[in-house]
Amino acid sequence: VTTTGLAGLPTPCLLLDRDRMQSNIDRMTQRAHALDVRLRPHVKTCKSIEIARLMTAPDRAAITVSTLREAEYFAAAGFTDILYAVSIAPQSVARVLALNAGGANVQVLLDAPETAREVAAGAAALGQTLHAWIEIDVDGHRAGLAPDDPLLIDVARVLHAAPEVRLAGVLTHAGGAYDCRSAIALERHAEQERRRCVRASRNLAAAGIPCPEVSVGSTPTALSASSLDGVTELRAGVYVFFDLVQAGLGVCGIEDIALSVLTTVISHNRAQRRLIVDAGALALSKDRGTAEQSRDCGYGLLMGPDGGQPIPGLRVAAVNQEHGIIELPPQSDFADFPIGSHLRVLPNHACMTAAAYDDYHVIDGRGDVLARWSRCNGW
Ligand SMILES: Cc1ncc(COP(=O)(O)O)c(C=O)c1O
Repeated sequence: VTTTGLAGLPTPCLLLDRDRMQSNIDRMTQRAHALDVRLRPHVKTCKSIEIARLMTAPDRAAITVSTLREAEYFAAAGFTDILYAVSIAPQSVARVLALNAGGANVQVLLDAPETAREVAAGAAALGQTLHAWIEIDVDGHRAGLAPDDPLLIDVARVLHAAPEVRLAGVLTHAGGAYDCRSAIALERHAEQERRRCVRASRNLAAAGIPCPEVSVGSTPTALSASSLDGVTELRAGVYVFFDLVQAGLGVCGIEDIALSVLTTVISHNRAQRRLIVDAGALALSKDRGTAEQSRDCGYGLLMGPDGGQPIPGLRVAAVNQEHGIIELPPQSDFADFPIGSHLRVLPNHACMTAAAYDDYHVIDGRGDVLARWSRCNGW
């Protein structure tokens, strides 16, 4: 049921601009098509059935998840090809197998021989086929094995020797791309991601271990790669909403950001020329991903309740648990932001901000609320 305007909504709450989101989805879908790879969207950003369906339209094909809770949630909604792209904790293998016994094909990720043995033993105990991916480190950002690390072959041999396990392929996430400061640096990083992950798969093939799939991706590298030669699939997630970090990287404009937090002005601190709003650390997150970028957006930039462009000079400068603190620029007056009036905060990092909410208020370009879509938080 459509509700006119935002006036009656409780704050803080999460607003999702449907049209902006759809054009972000279309952009990445076309990008994967142009690069000739399958798109396996990461649904950790949206954690929503309705949005994941739009991201995988028309066939509800492959998705990536970051928690087993997501795997269960999306499997229950009919998604089957689900890659759980965080190294599996040994005690969680049984939970994956239980889900797969119900008809899903949840695939696991690992980078250690110990984990490979646990996965093999768990699948063997139930006589169930389980697809496993090996994580590759292409930039020292996080987990994974370097393409030339001899341990890569050792891990692959454990998986290859297990009758119930299928080695699906190698996977990497070039998180180091977030430190790039120019378009050319991003393009180079995307090429490094591609080259090193393909190299890992070739090293396995040379050792006699078939490695059918090569999965790469992050939003900035997906939008900056000039070629994905040798890659079979592309993963990205935050593109669905975009955020200020992505705008700072230059892979989207601020006008592409589909997610914002509706907040209310709750106090005027006239002595310090500050506005206080009811969106603080819990409502926005404490992610400071723009701190090292050329434009530091504090804890978020502000728009009027109708959206549009950010209000010049305004940002959430500090947060307490439930308070957001905004310094009033010299050209503004308290009368411009009466107590009880609404503002919208653009998030630094959409995944982290959205994580505080149980649902989205989906709005159209006029700010009318079209629907409420729920999210699955937790583990
Ligand atoms: C394994 C993996 N794949 C894909 C992604 C998606 O990247 P992005 O958030 O840049 O869209 C992430 C994000 O953290 C990830 O951890």
